[in-house]
Amino acid sequence: MAEPVKRLFFALWPDAGYREALLAAMRHWQHGYPARWSKPENLHLTLAFLGNVAASQAPRLLEAAQSIRAPAIALQLDRLEYWRKSQILCLTPTATPPELARLAADLSSALAKAGLTIGTRPFRPHLTLARAAPRPLTLAQDLPALAWQADALTLVESTRDSGGGSRYAITHTWRLG
Ligand code: 2AM
Repeated sequence: MAEPVKRLFFALWPDAGYREALLAAMRHWQHGYPARWSKPENLHLTLAFLGNVAASQAPRLLEAAQSIRAPAIALQLDRLEYWRKSQILCLTPTATPPELARLAADLSSALAKAGLTIGTRPFRPHLTLARAAPRPLTLAQDLPALAWQADALTLVESTRDSGGGSRYAITHTWRLG
């Protein structure tokens, strides 16, 4: 019988304050912009995407994550971008903090060393706000300055909810800093 698998990814998960600030902004942006807006509880920034991972690989995966040493990261997602190819609307940092790039790179190499296959997309930090997005969104006002102090690395399992959408559940957390 095939071994059970879980669909997993590593991410930075917003704290309640940052998520609320994001949601307040999103409520304005949603007017007159039909798209599949992210559910509040699904907002995150992916660091490394693993896809399907067999149960037997879990110990190696957790060991790899455990080996990561990184500081907490001050993030300023100050750009609203439209990615035409993937049809997403997302927030990105104008400048990627070096600690963020290092964390993603360290994680990738620790996972690769542990024999785990990760997604081949180059790391482009972004927080997806909406999917099936039809066009760029022009804002009447400047993007609010939303600061986020990311102080944990999370391992997340992705499943389908009853409506066919994604449901994300944090399975493990490692403090940064
Ligand atoms: P997205 O928001 O740009 O779609 C769960 O699906 C998370 O993993 C999402 O943040 C998604 O990014 C990301 N993801 C899905 N498939 C991926 C892949 N092949 N490579 C990198 N990231 C991926």
